[in-house]
Amino acid sequence: MLIYAHRGASGTYPENTIASFREAARLPVHGVEFDVHLTKDGELVVIHDETIDRTSDGTGYVKDQTLSQLKEYDFGNWFSPQFEGETIPTLGEVLELFQSTHHHLNIELKSDIFPYEGMTAKVLELIKEYDLESRVVLSSFDHSAIQEVKRLAPHIETGALAMEVLVRPLDYLKNIPADAFHLLFPTAIRPAYREIYDAGIPVRAFTVNEESYARLLQQAGVQAIFTDYPERLFAFLNA
Ligand code: G3P
Ligand code: MG
Repeated sequence: MLIYAHRGASGTYPENTIASFREAARLPVHGVEFDVHLTKDGELVVIHDETIDRTSDGTGYVKDQTLSQLKEYDFGNWFSPQFEGETIPTLGEVLELFQSTHHHLNIELKSDIFPYEGMTAKVLELIKEYDLESRVVLSSFDHSAIQEVKRLAPHIETGALAMEVLVRPLDYLKNIPADAFHLLFPTAIRPAYREIYDAGIPVRAFTVNEESYARLLQQAGVQAIFTDYPERLFAFLNA
């Protein structure tokens, strides 16, 4: 079973920062996951929440501030003073960091709360610019964004994020269409999803920080897990 570092190595470094991605880039794990939002001036930034309140010394929505305004805030100190000076990364900065590594990149489009008009096309453009089209999977809880990816760039791999126990998930996935399911951990092992495993469609599960859960998912046929502790889970699964 493969491992993706969730928001970078976010258990031991401040999530979605260059520090957490440098750590992930150093590890022998398969991939890394991170979240993308759009600023007021149309720049792509890597952060999980719609606001900067939880993970910086600032406040307010990402969508209401320009990149240069957002770059003024500290995104490391809330986690530990040791990481003071971390700033919000742009998507370009993160792609550049991973350009020279082997890691598979899961870019999560966070357009499920605010629609971020034009964000999907901008992400696709940047992936092409960095020549990373064969090393990415684009996922979202906003399945219309996934549909847009398939329309604009059918060769790019996509994953539909879901927490729900869907009825006939295979029909649902084909209808979007998407290439994989990225499922909440308990949902991923519900019998409703058996047909997805039987069809050979990749299932990746989030967020798995417990060894016993990782083992359970491995036995269920999950292709990969997203974890905040990639080094520890890698050591466990490869022992
Ligand atoms: O992409 C997997 C996982 O990151 C989805 O949930 O809220 O951590 O972005 P969240
Ligand atoms: Mg995410």
